[in-house]
Amino acid sequence: MDALEATPAIKQEIFLKDYQPPHFWVDEISLCFNLGEKGARVTAETKFRRNSKTDNALVLDGGPYMALESITVDGTPLDERAYTVSATALTVHSVPDQFLLKVVTKLDPVNNTRLEGLYHSSGNFCTQCEAQGFRHITYYPDRPDVLAKYTVRIEAEQSKFPVLLSNGNRVAEGSMSGGYHYAVWEDPYPKPSYLFALVAGDFACRNDHFVTASGKHVELNIYVAPDDLNKSDYAMASLKRSMKWDEEVFGLEYDLDIYNIVAVSDFNMGAMENKGLNVFNTKYVLASPETATDADFSHVEGVIGHEYFHNWTGNRVTCRDWFQLSLKEGLTVFRDQEFTSDMASRSLKRLDDVRILRLLQFTEDSGPLAHPVRPEKYVEINNFYTATVYNKGAEVIRMMHTLMGAETFRKGMDLYIGRHDGHAVTCEDFVVAMEDASGLDLKQFRLWYSQAGTPHLKVNITCSHGTAKLTIDQSCKPTPGQPDKKPYHMPLLVGWLDSAGNPICPNIGAGGKWLKESCLLELKSPREVFEFMDVPEGAVISLHRQFSAPVKLDHNLSDKELAFLMAYDSDAYARWEAAQQLASRQFLSEVNGKPLIDGAFEKAFHFALRDEETDPAFVAELLTLPSEIDLGQKMQTLDPAGIHQVREKLIKKLALENKEYLIKRYTKLNTGVYSLDQTSVAKRRLKNILLAYISVCPEGATYVETQFKAADNMTDRMAALQLLVHSDYENRQELLNGFYETWHSNALVIDKWFSVQALSKRSDTVEMVLKLVEHPSFSFKNPNRVRSLVSAFSMLNQAAFHISGGAGYRFLAEMIVKVDAYNPQTAAKLVAPLGRWQRLNAVAMRQMQESLKWILNKPNISDDVRELCLKSIE
Ligand code: PHE
Ligand code: ZN
Repeated sequence: MDALEATPAIKQEIFLKDYQPPHFWVDEISLCFNLGEKGARVTAETKFRRNSKTDNALVLDGGPYMALESITVDGTPLDERAYTVSATALTVHSVPDQFLLKVVTKLDPVNNTRLEGLYHSSGNFCTQCEAQGFRHITYYPDRPDVLAKYTVRIEAEQSKFPVLLSNGNRVAEGSMSGGYHYAVWEDPYPKPSYLFALVAGDFACRNDHFVTASGKHVELNIYVAPDDLNKSDYAMASLKRSMKWDEEVFGLEYDLDIYNIVAVSDFNMGAMENKGLNVFNTKYVLASPETATDADFSHVEGVIGHEYFHNWTGNRVTCRDWFQLSLKEGLTVFRDQEFTSDMASRSLKRLDDVRILRLLQFTEDSGPLAHPVRPEKYVEINNFYTATVYNKGAEVIRMMHTLMGAETFRKGMDLYIGRHDGHAVTCEDFVVAMEDASGLDLKQFRLWYSQAGTPHLKVNITCSHGTAKLTIDQSCKPTPGQPDKKPYHMPLLVGWLDSAGNPICPNIGAGGKWLKESCLLELKSPREVFEFMDVPEGAVISLHRQFSAPVKLDHNLSDKELAFLMAYDSDAYARWEAAQQLASRQFLSEVNGKPLIDGAFEKAFHFALRDEETDPAFVAELLTLPSEIDLGQKMQTLDPAGIHQVREKLIKKLALENKEYLIKRYTKLNTGVYSLDQTSVAKRRLKNILLAYISVCPEGATYVETQFKAADNMTDRMAALQLLVHSDYENRQELLNGFYETWHSNALVIDKWFSVQALSKRSDTVEMVLKLVEHPSFSFKNPNRVRSLVSAFSMLNQAAFHISGGAGYRFLAEMIVKVDAYNPQTAAKLVAPLGRWQRLNAVAMRQMQESLKWILNKPNISDDVRELCLKSIE
């Protein structure tokens, strides 16, 4: 550790408690961009107005990658002694109470590999300003509580950049000398700088329109690369569905005459909600049956919805400071989840969301990077776009929704929007609106915003003479900086089934209330006791319905009771969770060397496989074993290799025991023409799970190869390809190469080709992944490509990443350093797996810490990566 202390974090920590309103407001800003391959010149004219009676100097944020060309105040050029420029700020020592500042900066977008500020992607110019990218474009108070009206003029060569876009409405356009042309955009809604955007390039446009509930005509455009136009229909349809849904469910209408979406292939995140001009990662716009899987289609719909919903929750009502990030993100994730639930299957969507939460957020919450939904401090805000802020944030909103019911929640939303439209506010403001609308006391509930960590519920059920007593203990382990936790206020939904599997509603005393088939219990104290009366003989309780709170829950139900719930529970989450728990019990006892004799899970599997009444998509869920990562979370000491072995063994056993039926049902499902409707998606889902079991049987190769070659859609083709990659079938490599040849010009499909290999279950995966880094199609500069290989391997392939010897850790460390040289934000997103050494054996633990140290000792590591490595090593 000695060597490390010589390189402390360069950037200072910023604290929520230090928040101060800005010294100056901005009423208006007018920007002119002159774009050329040799550079971009930005002229910013900003009207400032002093906010306080103090005589503070004007301090503006600015980045190290731009050059200041000139500066005037109210038309007078500033003397060099009148201002100071540093790597992070421009200070004008003395300014009047109101003035116009004119600043000219010169940028180098073509060499901007950080993909923040103004940059170049596939020959087009685009911007990314959230969270603090605007300061790399011009000097400005780059903070979300400064709201201003923007006018933007863009000038560029007409032939290369025929499309010129910015926020709001286009108010002028025309040609200029030298083959240039220009466009002027005006956004009538005051906004923070992080919502500014500009795009200039050569695109094809899918055009459509939407008529709002009040009869307003809105022009809709999706701009993509000319070859991709045929893959933009689903995004457009999703956008129209989003607009309609927000009107129907939240009474929120779109507020401009035009809505533009642009797809770019180099993007740090999924997409960005810039006012009237969303910029998207191509991954969340482009989809056709030939190139996208069913899951891809669903993600496109979800992200299109998410960015659209931000127009009200994020843009019209924005965040006071970045500690409030979950104000917009948690709420908007909740809204996109509800949208997807209403468009397709609510219960299946819930399973997807729970799985993601457990995979990403529970892991985050149990490691060194744990932080509250509303963090108290940060070094680099980009490191806080996390599963905690987004997904746990959405669960916190969902709990309020559960506690007060949909109707009251809607009243709370109306109140929130009505009160705060046009303002920059806090999570507290949201909770107050919800309290005012519902009359609920959410004082204790607020701990969900300030305490990190996943609460743990222990439920003990005892039954005597028809009275069932539920004793629920809650606790929460310490997290960094938070050794002691207070008890949370949370809703727990439970239900009862009689011995025939029918729902019943036994009487509940105080503290519980029946809502249709489920009973809402409110937990507040470390121990809560509830009693249900007149419970019939043989009835079984169903706990944690709908996953009503983001907690881990243990109980004393028997294997038999779990199998019963797995067969009959009317609540999809509880039914699925019963299956998962039953399977986990079997695994864990086997990993620990005690095989289960009665095979309760095997019987339940047998039964579920033959269930022809339940939705096939849900049957597929019941037949999917808990992932290696899920199982790992349940072990005191993590044994990745052991888990992998036992899981593979169980898969094989289940497959061989049910082989004939698996093949029979697979064959029956493997018919019909491709369609994207829900029934077909559900059948494909089940079919491909069945194929996974068949693939490990002796005749598996034939089935997998046949599907791979005959597939007329990417879902079936990818499912087969993944199984091929896991296998040691004879022509494995040949088919894998063939896939590459066929699809080499489609970047999103090639991303998948990298991912399936990174996810391989084979023991030579690390060597394969090391070789893939050398592949001509691999690139350290493209975030999608980096994630498709590096994140897939290190975050999702537990057994391969933790292979003994530490090769997986060294590989990841090297990737982080390489990517960091181009793109710190994307590099920092790769760090987390190296910090999860706490439950590994001593050797692996040391190897992971060595890898972190190795990164920290590299010269020139970014603040982004340094912050996370330092936290991870502690
Ligand atoms: N605000 C974007 C979203 O959630 C995410 C994002 C953050 C994009 C930072 C780019 C940069 O929709
Ligand atoms: Zn968002």
